Amino acid sequence: MIHVKKAFVIGHPIKHSRSPLIHGSWLAEHGIDGSYEAIDVAPDALPAFIERLRQGEFVGGNVTIPHKEAVFALCDSVDPLARTIGAANTLVRQPDGRIHGFNTDYMGFLGNLDQNAPGWAAGLGRAVVLGAGGAARAILVALREQGVPEIVLLNRTPEKAAALAREIGGPFIAGSLADYASYAAGAGLLVNTTSIGMHDTRFEALDLGLLPGTALVTDIVYVPLTTPLLADARALGLRTVDGLGMLLHQAVPGFAAWFGVRPEVTPALRAKVEATL
Ligand code: ATR
Repeated sequence: MIHVKKAFVIGHPIKHSRSPLIHGSWLAEHGIDGSYEAIDVAPDALPAFIERLRQGEFVGGNVTIPHKEAVFALCDSVDPLARTIGAANTLVRQPDGRIHGFNTDYMGFLGNLDQNAPGWAAGLGRAVVLGAGGAARAILVALREQGVPEIVLLNRTPEKAAALAREIGGPFIAGSLADYASYAAGAGLLVNTTSIGMHDTRFEALDLGLLPGTALVTDIVYVPLTTPLLADARALGLRTVDGLGMLLHQAVPGFAAWFGVRPEVTPALRAKVEATL
């Protein structure tokens, strides 16, 4: 009998996912007899799909929009940080059939910065995070876990920033985008977690010249790879890290859990995915 280890990414829609390319490249590179396929699962079909995982058809997989919250109720155990983030994006089937859910987005955020701006957290006094939507949550948890002493959360709708800060809990200060000027001077890190930067959108009133010259600017948007925010930061001579690395690095822990090998995010893999953007 052949035991091919099968993994998946489920979402609805799912056809634009780059995850099969990423995991497929690692499977080939390591000569693993496995597969990773994108499967479209509509919300009402989620419980039945999770049952297929429980029965042993798959070793695990990724979960994306719109299932990241709904999947909690179907897991047998959930990592505490995933619960704090409010989303699970990775499932692992344990040998007894129990399903464990965790979230690798925060590891992806940290892995990307560690690889592309080594030492970024050393001596970092303040981080400014723009946005308070779903994508901000994993990043706030990541910065908190990293021990950043002051995390300023700024959002177009400041009430949402305040609510998120309270819910997650940490050394957070919440405010509106207009408060940026008050916090920029002491910020060693600026992170955009909003969708601004896609489709030629940009922050109008954000003066990057107020940041210290040593500041690092990073964006979770990766289409386009160089967002207006990153282009402006580079023009000022600031360090930048783009968002594609977060996508690549968030895939690492899942692959390691399913296939038993910790894969590398190499320039060749990055180039392969970049070619599809
Ligand atoms: P997701 O869950 O995918 O992150 P979301 O919950 O809609 O999406 O969050 C999007 C984030 O981008 C929010 O912080 C949103 O600000 P509001 O909370 O004020 O809506 C922010 N955002 C989206 N479009 C924006 C715009 N044109 N200007 C400023 N912020 C914007």
